[in-house]
Amino acid sequence: MSDSTRQIDELKERLNTELEAARNIRIDSLSLADCEARQREIKDISVRLTGKKSDLAALKKSIGSVAAGERGAFAQIVQSLERDVTETLEVAENRLTNKINELKTEAERLDVTIPGRRPRTGHLHPITILRHRIEDIFVSMGYAIEDDREIETDYYNFDALNIPEAHPARESQDTFYTTDGFALRSQTSTVQIRAMERRGVPLRILAPGKVYRRDTPDMTHTPMFHQLEGLCVDRGITMAHLKGTVTEWLKRLFGDDTVTRFRPSYFPFTEPSAEFDFSCFKCHGTGTVVSDQWSVVSKTDSELTTDHRPPATERCRPCKGSGWIELGGSGMVHPNVLRACGVDPKVYSGFAFGFGLERMAALMYSIDDIRHMFENDVRFLGQFK
Ligand code: DAH
Repeated sequence: MSDSTRQIDELKERLNTELEAARNIRIDSLSLADCEARQREIKDISVRLTGKKSDLAALKKSIGSVAAGERGAFAQIVQSLERDVTETLEVAENRLTNKINELKTEAERLDVTIPGRRPRTGHLHPITILRHRIEDIFVSMGYAIEDDREIETDYYNFDALNIPEAHPARESQDTFYTTDGFALRSQTSTVQIRAMERRGVPLRILAPGKVYRRDTPDMTHTPMFHQLEGLCVDRGITMAHLKGTVTEWLKRLFGDDTVTRFRPSYFPFTEPSAEFDFSCFKCHGTGTVVSDQWSVVSKTDSELTTDHRPPATERCRPCKGSGWIELGGSGMVHPNVLRACGVDPKVYSGFAFGFGLERMAALMYSIDDIRHMFENDVRFLGQFK
């Protein structure tokens, strides 16, 4: 056996062992990642077996130095060897590529007949919805919406509102204080002062916002809640304007048959002061509503065939059977308050009113616990769109 033939046989043997792995890939059980790893291995093997520095390349180079008589045959053997290697590797490579394509198609398959997922659209909080409705009414009556700070000084929360230090009204409105002597406002009445200072008079404003009190949370109290404050100051404003305005916005909100009543009261920043109630939106002031149940009256069988029994009535829930819903406080702006804002009480007069939104929303939507409004459970909030 000539040298070159032995060389070839040896190389064949080595190549065969190297190619064994490529020939025997068990492609069926491979994952996508496995296939890709194998593909990289095949590329490496290909470089190693057929690249410039491979034994095969060296053998090809040696063709020239083989004796002329044997050269042709030698060259043919080398070429067929090279073909074997490249074909084996190509087959393995193609099998892997096909498998990769198959796995990718499977992974990315899309069933266009599956029903889509409906995106959940958000909506406003019930308190915001109610606030907007009331704001719209006041804007249509020529009021401006006034927004102001929640962190206040004692001066704006109390002193300027005619509540001097040691006044008992401070106690009922205890709030949260910062270490620097600021307080979270306990009432939106602070905006009366801020607005008169900033805008001067005459003015008509509606100031909605958050207020804070040191209350332990229960069904009807939360340490943060919302108020709406109204203020109208001009020459010649009287109690009649107050009554007319309050009556009008409640009619627009609850319907033309809504009746308002004022009861004498006391607030430090108004004189005279009155609390205002309106006829219940549910029972329209009667205190009773038709019950879902029929009254149980003993009847003979023949009478029962045509039911002439009167519907039963029950006590109306929102007004607790009184026919009235207490809403808020109001009155004629105290001369001391006007003076604190540099307004001459001999020239100008005004009325103010304020009320809480949570209680109103709770009554309108039959919510028995106002804490629900701040727990942000979408199953609860979603009921009030
Ligand atoms: N600020 C009062 C409170 O928080 C409510 C109030 C009463 C506001 C009378 C007013 C008013 O503007 O005139 O209880």
